[in-house]
Amino acid sequence: MLAVIAFCLWIGAAAAALLPANLTTPALSPELFKRAVSNPYVFTAFTSASESNLYVYTSSDATSFSLLKGPAYTPPTGLIRDPSLILHTDGLYYIAYTTDWSGQNFAIASSSDLLTWTRKATISTSSSVIKPVNTWAPEFFKDAKTGKLNIVVSLSTGSYGPFLPYVFTASDSSLTTWSGPTVMSGISNSGLGYIDTFPVYYNNQYHIFTKAESNGQKHVEHAVASALTGPYSFVQTGDFAGWGQAEGPCVTVLPNGKFRLFADGFSSGKYIYSDSSDLYTWSAYKTVPNLSGTVRHGTVLRQ
Ligand SMILES: *[C@@H]1O[C@H](CO)[C@@H](O)[C@H](O)[C@H]1NC(C)=O
Ligand SMILES: *[C@@H]1O[C@H](CO)[C@@H](O)[C@H](O)[C@H]1NC(C)=O
Repeated sequence: MLAVIAFCLWIGAAAAALLPANLTTPALSPELFKRAVSNPYVFTAFTSASESNLYVYTSSDATSFSLLKGPAYTPPTGLIRDPSLILHTDGLYYIAYTTDWSGQNFAIASSSDLLTWTRKATISTSSSVIKPVNTWAPEFFKDAKTGKLNIVVSLSTGSYGPFLPYVFTASDSSLTTWSGPTVMSGISNSGLGYIDTFPVYYNNQYHIFTKAESNGQKHVEHAVASALTGPYSFVQTGDFAGWGQAEGPCVTVLPNGKFRLFADGFSSGKYIYSDSSDLYTWSAYKTVPNLSGTVRHGTVLRQ
């Protein structure tokens, strides 16, 4: 089972954690490597106190988190909502984040140690394909099938909806030039659309967990496809897992091989998590003690 998951799933560097230690993160210094081994889970987020400050938390078990640094970064301009984190092949950490409530770009910053960050690139989301009014929640996705690094971002042509997920693909390892956007097809509703889309590649299928905004409700729904850009079919909708109103889902793999989904519990004000062996059946949600009450939409990396 572990081997299957290790082969099929690649969330950031998640699967790399299952490889022999010296093959995982060759560019990390011995000191950072030691930190990564003892606290493999890193959570980057913004907080209810500020949309312009990055907070970084680490954890050994994906349940109990400690603040590593906060604020860790305040970008020169704009906001830093919804930061999504990877450990890249160059041994640097990268976040992609929302720069403003309205606008036609998202931004990428990098760090060697998770403590000190530098703005790396601002990526335009306006093209012949779409001239978005809103650009929200860019999410890194390393595709285990194609080996390509993608960013899935929620774009809206109207003001604050309807949103659809679009895919950008890195042109090279510099992460400064991206091709796209290509819309994820098969996804639409009569409300404000789908926001905060998080892909997982598992068992030869692309699964997305994405927030449906409709009739004032925000529910994380589940769709599957055989290609990253779709067409997707929804397999679980509404409040199917009992998570309530929630947004900003992200998924990681626990030391026991199970999946863990985290989400921003919009109505409860808590950060919640829920576990699954197959991405379909989820445990009753619990709240993440150290992130609840302050932390807003972030992403977890297992390094
Ligand atoms: C990786 O670590 C193992 C066990 O410590 C060692 O046998 C092997 O030579 C190392 N490989 C490299 C490429 O350093
Ligand atoms: C995290 O929460 C747990 C459970 O409430 C608590 O025991 C622990 O001390 C907290 N850790 C930190 C760093 O706040």
